[in-house]
Amino acid sequence: MGQSQFVSQCTADAMVLAAQKLMNGHLVAFPTETVYGLGADATNESAVAKIYAAKGRPADHPLIVHVHSMQAMGDWAQEIPTYAIDLARDFWPGPMTLILNRSLLARDFITGGQNTVGIRVPDHVVALALLNAFHAIGGKGIAAPSANRFGHVSPTTAQAVKDELGSFLNEQDQILDGGPCTVGVESTIIDCTGDVPKILRPGAITAEMITASTGLDVVEPTDSNDAGKESIRVSGSLDAHYAPAAKVLLDQNPHAGQGFIAPATTTTPDGVIRLASPTNDVEFAQTLYASLRKADELGLSHVVIEQPTGTGIAIAIRDRLMRAANGR
Ligand code: TXA
Ligand code: MG
Repeated sequence: MGQSQFVSQCTADAMVLAAQKLMNGHLVAFPTETVYGLGADATNESAVAKIYAAKGRPADHPLIVHVHSMQAMGDWAQEIPTYAIDLARDFWPGPMTLILNRSLLARDFITGGQNTVGIRVPDHVVALALLNAFHAIGGKGIAAPSANRFGHVSPTTAQAVKDELGSFLNEQDQILDGGPCTVGVESTIIDCTGDVPKILRPGAITAEMITASTGLDVVEPTDSNDAGKESIRVSGSLDAHYAPAAKVLLDQNPHAGQGFIAPATTTTPDGVIRLASPTNDVEFAQTLYASLRKADELGLSHVVIEQPTGTGIAIAIRDRLMRAANGR
């Protein structure tokens, strides 16, 4: 395998070329507001197979289909409940994936053989430009998992995608550089196949926001440790996930030579290598994955993380940290 093209000038012309790459069955990694995705034409089985090969991901794990607007929900899903329409209207484009009953378009190679499909309209100018350019040439949707090797930390910069997957992509594939991701943790996944919305993976769209949008009580994982038991098919819910090579230790005193991620108000003990000092939870989420990557670049054996204690996005941060702490 050769080197994929790294595209740093995401002009309209470049987006048309990238859309054509997708249509021709190649892979295009692209930025979203959450993390970078590794995209393929969601209707092309052999293109989608390349995603699994590049990631080293088990073939029965379903992929999220990214679409250009909520109108495209009807292409991929059927029997869509009213509350899912409310959520789409209120939070798309945005960091939210809806699990819906699939249409015939959503084949087994997308859904992992399940009767449901995950749909998302991402909120990033480059992602939307790519999705619109793909739609303009007849594309139905872009299947994209996070652009990391299976079980690793999701990439939040184009360089991180290159570091993770560069050697698994070929020269026909592309990596689009749209700058660092603003949210920094993956989308909230909401199962919309029952009477009420059920959170499968916490993210920036919180239970409170879902209730405010739909008027419904939300089924939440009772604590983050239970999230993984909701559905083994949510690969992000496998116990060891989002993990750097360094061992992640939560809420302990860091020792000299260890990496340390903690809120800015916490001081750094002597000899400890401070990797991030976020001043709030939003910044914590934005910088978390890049900080974990930095620990590996520095060859650190351990990273100690003082978890944020609040609600909102802090719930998603703790969910990912619990899994990262389970190691690779
Ligand atoms: O923010 C995100 O969601 C990012 C960006 C690129 O959009 N994508 C992402 O994809 O995190 P991935 O594949 O790394 O994680 C998506 C999760 C997986 O754990 C998958 O199992 C789950 O969504 N998923 C997809 N379709 C599903 C379905 N029909 N039912 C249950 N879970 C599903
Ligand atoms: Mg992932």
